[in-house]
Amino acid sequence: LQTDVAIVGAGPAGLLLAHMLHNAGIDSVVIDNRSREDIAHTHRAGILEAGSVRMLEAEGIESRVHTAGHRHDGIDIRVDGISHSFDFPDLVGESVWLYPQNEIFVDLSAARSRTGRPTFYSVTDTRLGGIEADRPWVNATSEDGEELRVEARYVVGADGSRGPSRAMIPADTKQRFFHEYPFAWFGILCEAPPSHEVLIYSRSERGFALISQRSESVQRMYFQTSPDTEVAEWSDERIWSELQARVDGPDGFELKTGAIIDKNILPFRSAVTEPMQHGSLFLAGDSAHTVPPTGAKGLNLAFADVSLLAPALISALRDSDAEALAGYSQIATKRVWKAQNFSYQMTRMLHSDPSQDDFEARRSLGELNSILESEHGRRYLAECYTGWPKG
Ligand code: DHB
Repeated sequence: LQTDVAIVGAGPAGLLLAHMLHNAGIDSVVIDNRSREDIAHTHRAGILEAGSVRMLEAEGIESRVHTAGHRHDGIDIRVDGISHSFDFPDLVGESVWLYPQNEIFVDLSAARSRTGRPTFYSVTDTRLGGIEADRPWVNATSEDGEELRVEARYVVGADGSRGPSRAMIPADTKQRFFHEYPFAWFGILCEAPPSHEVLIYSRSERGFALISQRSESVQRMYFQTSPDTEVAEWSDERIWSELQARVDGPDGFELKTGAIIDKNILPFRSAVTEPMQHGSLFLAGDSAHTVPPTGAKGLNLAFADVSLLAPALISALRDSDAEALAGYSQIATKRVWKAQNFSYQMTRMLHSDPSQDDFEARRSLGELNSILESEHGRRYLAECYTGWPKG
C-alpha cells in the first residue's frame, strides 16, 4: 500500500490524527495490534479538557460527548473528610467533560470507517523501517495472515507505551526520563447511582481515593494501593469499606454502593522520551510519554500532540513546508513537562507514600493547603486541570 502517512496505533491519538489529515485531503493507513472490540472495551481515562472537546468538534467527528458525556464545572478536593469545591468556569472560564476514552474510540473509529480509508486491527508482527530516508515503511501480518506492506512519506507512532515505534529512535539520539511511584490505583466499575455531582479527589490518612462517574447507573472509583496488590485480595466488601473510610468526614458523606462489575489495577509511572521524532518518524501520545492518572492528563496530552502534529504534517505534505514538523518535538515536550509536573504534583499532594518520612507527609499537606486556601492557587489548579491553551 502507498500512502502519505502510516499511523501505528488506532487509539484516540492515531484515529484523530488520521481524521484531521483526511479533512485536509491527506491519505493515511492505520494499523493496530489490538482488535477493535478490545480497544472499545478497555476502560481508560474519563476526563476531556475543553480544548480536546473543541478538537473533536472542529474536525466534524460525530462525537457523542455532548449527548452521552457530561459537562463538569468543577471538582471537589477532600482533605481528611473536609471538601473544598472548585468552580472551573468561575476560576478560569472553562469546563471539562466526563466522557470515557473507550467511547471516544468508538466515535473516532466510526468516523474513520465513514472516510472509507483503511484501518487494520488485530495485526501481528509490526515492523517499521526506513525512517532515516524519505520513504519509510511499516510491515505487519494482517488478521487473515496476509503480509501488509505500507510505504509512506511519514510514519507516526501512536502505539502507546509498549508499542514498537519508540524503539526505532536510535539509542544515542534519544533520552528517556523516568519516575516511579511506590503505589498503584485499584479501579472499579460499579452499578450504582452517582454519589456526588462532581468528581471527588480525596486525601486521607488511609491513602488517596477518587470518586468518578460514568453514567446515571454506572460509576468509576479508584483507591491508592500498593503496586504488588492483586485483584483477588480485594473482596467487594473490603473494597467498599476501604473506599468509604477514605471519604469519611464530619459531613457524614456516604458513598452509594452497588454491584462491582469490573476490577483492575493501574500502574503508576511518569516517563518521557525526547526527542519525540527522528527522521520520518514522529511519536504522539503514550508512545512518547506516560503520566500518572491523578491529573487526568494522559488522553488530553495525546490530543495536544496531535493538534501540533496534524497541521505540521499537512504543511509538509501539501505545501512542502517542513519547518513546523522539524520543530514538533521541541514544542510538544513543553506541554508534556507541564503535564508531568501537574500530574506529579497532584499525585504527591493527594497520596500517602509509605516510604516517606513524616516531614514529607506534612510538607505535601502544606503544599495542598497553599493551593486550597489561595485564590491564585485555586486558579492555578483549575487552569492546569482544564488544560493550557494548545500550541
Ligand atoms: C478518571 C480517571 C482519572 O485519572 C481522573 O483523574 C479522573 C477521572 C476516570 O476514569 O473517570
